[in-house]
Order: sequence, then structure tokens, then C-alpha cells
Amino acid sequence: MPEDTESLSVLQRNTEMVDDPREQQIIREYLSKREPIFQELCELKKQGWTSAEGDKVFDERKRKADSAGPQGRQRFFLMTVRIGDEMARRTNVFRFDNQSPLVLDLCMAPGGFTKSVLKRFPDAHVHAITLPLEDGGYHVIAKHPHLSIVYADITLYATDFGVTEIPVNHPDPALFSHDRPYQDCRYDLVFCGGAVLRAQPRAEYRRVGEHIRLNVSQLIFAFQRIKPGGTLVLLLHKIEAWDTVRILHTFSKFADIKLFKPYKAHAIKSTFYLVAQSVQPQTPEAVKALEEWKTLWYDWTFGADGETSSIPSQIGSGDGSEATEILEEYGTRLVELGRPIWKIQADALRNSGFIKSRLDNESCHDHQPVEAPKS
Ligand SMILES: C[S@@+](CC[C@H](N)C(=O)[O-])C[C@H]1O[C@@H](n2cnc3c(N)ncnc32)[C@H](O)[C@@H]1O
Repeated sequence: MPEDTESLSVLQRNTEMVDDPREQQIIREYLSKREPIFQELCELKKQGWTSAEGDKVFDERKRKADSAGPQGRQRFFLMTVRIGDEMARRTNVFRFDNQSPLVLDLCMAPGGFTKSVLKRFPDAHVHAITLPLEDGGYHVIAKHPHLSIVYADITLYATDFGVTEIPVNHPDPALFSHDRPYQDCRYDLVFCGGAVLRAQPRAEYRRVGEHIRLNVSQLIFAFQRIKPGGTLVLLLHKIEAWDTVRILHTFSKFADIKLFKPYKAHAIKSTFYLVAQSVQPQTPEAVKALEEWKTLWYDWTFGADGETSSIPSQIGSGDGSEATEILEEYGTRLVELGRPIWKIQADALRNSGFIKSRLDNESCHDHQPVEAPKS
């Protein structure tokens, strides 16, 4: 169950080599020129992609994840609690102005972050949404009298996302929900910890861009409920991805942002957390962002003209001018934010068995005489 969403070989090959829109190339070139650790990370990843050993490691992880029993689930839960604890130590994410904060945990199962909050603040209340087990969701392990959970696919809250009428041609209109859970609550802290799951059965039109639908669904849901001055934590992949750069740049306009990546858990992967503090959801920039996320959700769910056939087939399709503009304004800060995250991943990859054995082999070859000794 735990290690979902990404394997070095399959996913990164897909997203970096096949779908390589102009925006992505511009960002990669910019970062490679300015940040040696990013350049090294790209090299290490390439070695990972071409390593049969690497493929084996990730296949084995996937196999274990998909067949996790109660012990595996418990281990994963404890790991998520440790991630929450490390985040608390390194980012001061649980900085509340009262002892009984209200917390929203989106995509919460197994509930490590919830546990991490409740053990520090036993008077806190946590409201959660998480994918039902029968839709491939994870088991909830955290338990507490102050924890309430709604089991649902968060990407289907159409009315909450501003759509009361589902386009007539949609193949499955009954799927969408018009509930608006927790709509009158205002939260001190919102976790958006969703990761797209292999085990969730999804229609064909949800094959591409599902992580965008999941991210924007969580963001819309969160922004309509977070307190001014509150904190939002969002799980992201790859700082250098075009959709990630846009999210970081957008948040920098109405929040104080930090990035956090645990030193050990998932160090080899490109996942990290955006920790946005002092979020100001009522500023014009935040209101504009909310509208853009709603449009993105609509376009990736129904297609811009309400036809699923017009759902984008890749992320980013412009001429790259928007990426260039963002980098001019925000590139230096992006490098500063990214450096420690790339370093953690590069260190982990460099020390991973499959890259090490490759590097050792290469250095053996390096030391071989150029000409074979004459016999
Ligand atoms: C990495 S786990 C989250 C771990 C969690 N932050 C914790 O502290 O235990 C990813 C979660 O996203 C949930 N998820 C994935 N897609 C979802 C969706 N469409 N709606 C609701 N939850 C979803 C999964 O069921 C899983 O519980």
C-alpha cells in the first residue's frame, strides 16, 4: 500500500522524456545552468532510469505496497507519524495561537499527520476526508474521539468546486457529489496529503493529469475553509515540474512558504511538502488563484468545452513565455527553495544500492588501461 504513485523508471521516464512540453524544457535548462546539485540529481536519475537494478527495486516496492497486510499497514502508518513529527520539528508547522486548533486532513488515511497533531494537542479536533476502501483507498489507522472522517473521492465535489450542472455528455454524471462537507468550519491547519493511487479504478478520461485534478481539488476545498493566517501543507512531486513551479509561485503571493522533505522517508523519490504559513485566502491574488484552480478542475474533468475528448493530453502546452516570465521573477527564490530538497534526493540516490553498483562499475572501467596490455 504505501509506496504509491512513482517509480524512478516508469513514471519519471513518462513525465520527463515523453511529455516534455516547452515549459518543462525551459525550467530544466534554467535550473541546470544555475544549480550544480540539480544538475547532479538529473544525472543520477538518468542512471536510475537505465538501471535494471533500479527497476527491480521499484518493482519490489510496488509489489510490497500492493499486497501490504496489517503489519505493513501499521509500519506505513508509523512512518507517516514520523514524517509529521519531523515536519513539526523542522518547519514549526504546528504553530497555533490556541491549544485547541481545528485541523482539516484531506486524503488522511492512514492518518499519521492526524496522529502527530493529536498527540501534541489532545484538545485539537480533526476533520478528515479520505478515499473509501472499496475505491482502493488506504485503511485508516489513527483513532481519536476528536477525529471525524468522511469517506469520499475528493475530486468529485462538483458543487463545492462551483459546478452544479454536470455537462450533458459526461459519461458518468452520477459519480459527482453535491455535498459540501465541513463547509461552515474554518481551519487553523489543512493537510492536503493526497497521492494518486494505482488501486483506484478510474475512467479512461482520468488517466492523464489525475494528479492535477487531485491537487486542485484539495486546494479548492482547503481555500474555501482555511482561516486567514492559517497553515496549509501540500504534498507535491518534483519542484522542477511546470505545474509545481506554478503552485509555488502562486503561493508565494499570499503566504510564507517553506519546503520540507524528510531526510529518510521516501528520500529517493521526488516528493516533498509545501508548508505555507500565514495564508491569506482573501487577498485578490488568492481569490484569483482559487478561480484558476476551479477552471483547471473543470478543464481536466470535463474538457474546456464540456467534452471529455477535449481534456488536455499533456501538462503545459504554451510557447513557454509564461514559464520564462515566472523564472525571471521567481527563479532565484525557486533555486533557494529547491536546493535542500534536491540535495536530500541526490544524496539518497547516490547512496542507493543500484546507483552505487553502477558508479563502482563505471569507476572500474575508468581505471582500465586505454590499450590492452600486450601479451
Ligand atoms: C500518502 S497517503 C496520505 C498519508 C497521510 N498524509 C498520513 O499522514 O497518513 C495518500 C492518501 O491519499 C488518498 N487519496 C488518493 N486519492 C484520493 C481521492 N481522490 N480522494 C480522497 N483521498 C484520496 C489515499 O487513499 C491515501 O489515503
